[in-house]
Amino acid sequence: MTGPANPGGRRPPVGTASGGRNPTTPVASARYPATPASGGRRPILAANWKMHLLRAEAVAHCRALRRGLGSSSVRVVVFPSFPLLPAVAAELAESDVAVGAQDLHPEDKGAHTGDVSGAQVADAGCSWVLCGHSERRRDHGESDELVARKVAAAVRSKLCPLVCVGETREERAAGRTLEVLARQLAAVAPVLPERFVLAYEPVWAIGTGEVATAATAQEAHRFLRGRLGELLGAERAETLPILYGGSVTPDNAAGLFAESDVDGFLVGGASLDPEKFLGIITVCV
Ligand code: 13P
Repeated sequence: MTGPANPGGRRPPVGTASGGRNPTTPVASARYPATPASGGRRPILAANWKMHLLRAEAVAHCRALRRGLGSSSVRVVVFPSFPLLPAVAAELAESDVAVGAQDLHPEDKGAHTGDVSGAQVADAGCSWVLCGHSERRRDHGESDELVARKVAAAVRSKLCPLVCVGETREERAAGRTLEVLARQLAAVAPVLPERFVLAYEPVWAIGTGEVATAATAQEAHRFLRGRLGELLGAERAETLPILYGGSVTPDNAAGLFAESDVDGFLVGGASLDPEKFLGIITVCV
C-alpha cells in the first residue's frame, strides 16, 4: 500500500534521515504549522515504563527529564506503574511533562480486587491512560471489546486515551496486518472521544530490537489515518497524532520520524534511560 508523498499537505515532502527538513527553515514552522486549521500535529513522545523502576529511581528519572527537556515544543508523557504515580506526578507538577497510567478498569468503581479505576488514576495525577497495549492483550487476554470499554471509561474520567493497535508476527506473516489494524480500530471507534491518540505498535517489534522499517511504519500509519478518515472525517483524521512503538532508540528514531504520518513515539526499553529518551525527543523537536 502506498500513499501520496505529502498527504494532506501537512508537511513538506520528507524522507531523509534528518527528517527532510530544510536546515534554513525553523523546525516548528517547517513540519508543524502552529494553527490547528492547517492540520499541524505536535509531536508526542511517550515513555511506557512498564513494570520497571522503584520510587527513588523514578524520581531521579523525572528530575533528569526535567533538567534535559528545558522548554520543548514536543508533548512528553510518562506512563509509570500504579504505585509510582503519586511520586512521579508530584515530581512533574508544574512541568510540561504529563503523567499517564498503564491501564484502568472498564467500570468506574466496585468490587474488583486488584484493579484500578479511571477516577483513581486521575486523582493520582494522571491525565492520560494506555488502552489496549499488546502486553495487556497478551498477558490478560484483553479483547477488542474490553479495550473499547476501557476507552469509554477513560473518557468518563476525562483521561486522554492512548490506544494501542498492532499485529503479531504470525498475523504479519499471514498477510493480515491491515485486517488486524482495521479490526482493532473499528472496535474502539464508537467510543473515541474528541481528544485521543493512536499508537501503532507491531507486536513483533516490541522489546525485540527488531524495529519496523520506516516504510513499514508509514504504510501502517497511513492505513490507520485513512481508516480514521472514514470513521471520523478526513479533515479531522489529518489532525490526529499517530505514534509508532517498538524498539525505538535514538539511533533509529530519525528515520521513522521522517515519515509523514509518524507523529512521535511510544517508547518502552529506551525510555528507562533518561539520556536515551531525551535523545529520542531531540530527534522530534
Ligand atoms: P520497546 O520500546 O521496549 O520495544 O517497547 C515498546 C512498547 O511496548 C511501548 O509501549
